[in-house]
Amino acid sequence: MHTERDQIWGKQSDPQQAAAEETKKFDPKAFALELRDDIQQNRIKLPTLPALSLEALVVVNDAGSSMADVARMISKDTSMAARLVRYANSPLYRGISNVASVKAAITRIGMDAVKHAILSLAMRDVFTTGFRSIQVRMEALWKHSVVVATKSALLAGYFPHLNRDEAMLAGLIHDVGAIPILIKAKDHQFLLDDEKKLDKLVEALHMSVGKFMLSFWNFDPAMIDVAASHDKLDRKPAGEQVDYVDIVQVANILSYEQCEGHRLSRIDTGKIPAFQRVGIDLIAQFRQRPAGQEELDIGVALH
Ligand SMILES: [Fe+2]
Ligand SMILES: [Fe+2]
Repeated sequence: MHTERDQIWGKQSDPQQAAAEETKKFDPKAFALELRDDIQQNRIKLPTLPALSLEALVVVNDAGSSMADVARMISKDTSMAARLVRYANSPLYRGISNVASVKAAITRIGMDAVKHAILSLAMRDVFTTGFRSIQVRMEALWKHSVVVATKSALLAGYFPHLNRDEAMLAGLIHDVGAIPILIKAKDHQFLLDDEKKLDKLVEALHMSVGKFMLSFWNFDPAMIDVAASHDKLDRKPAGEQVDYVDIVQVANILSYEQCEGHRLSRIDTGKIPAFQRVGIDLIAQFRQRPAGQEELDIGVALH
């Protein structure tokens, strides 16, 4: 019923009703198109990689750089330096004794792999947000990414042609496309209120957004492929050998094993090509190892 007041001032908006109306009007396709435009026209603030990590990468990629050059560059960023030393002392690399310096850490990780390690260690900052309304989801996304990354790195250890640090990075970036979607969703309260709807939206869009982000950051094609295809369980890879997409698909599904109710926890893994390529027996062996503490220790090194 309209009151006289409504006629003069316009009807006062009822927040619940407004949210219900927004839900009714919401068009996921339009959201996706808008998000793509936002990113292309720089309207959405994509997380950036820390400047010093980028400089360190330039030095690492320069064939003329010595290990001392790389160590000097990394040491400028005290938090990166500390993380790199911790990473080199994690169960992924642990030697007889602990390393104490950046130089010793690089020696242990190896000049070839250190570039992936630097990017992995920079990821913590990418998954950090100042927007309070999406902090809990971002934190959950980071935790999931760390679990997938540690499993990926350990699985890659069984394949001499794969690099454990690259597998670690692959696990950390596989769902990176969810970040801009969450950032945009913060402007739609009803999406924040309806977890299932937001999950569906992330599921539908995160691979194409991730592909776009990693191309924008100039990542290697192998990593872009991981972001773009890790949920395409029926994919037919070009090569014969196990690749990082296979590894991340397996690690991602294993990460949901204990999560009842998640669609990937009920899946028949025997039928998934990535499981067959990585090896059903190897995965069974991997599942049975008493890995809890080891994985936790590797994960801690990424924080
Ligand atoms: Fe995903
Ligand atoms: Fe995932």
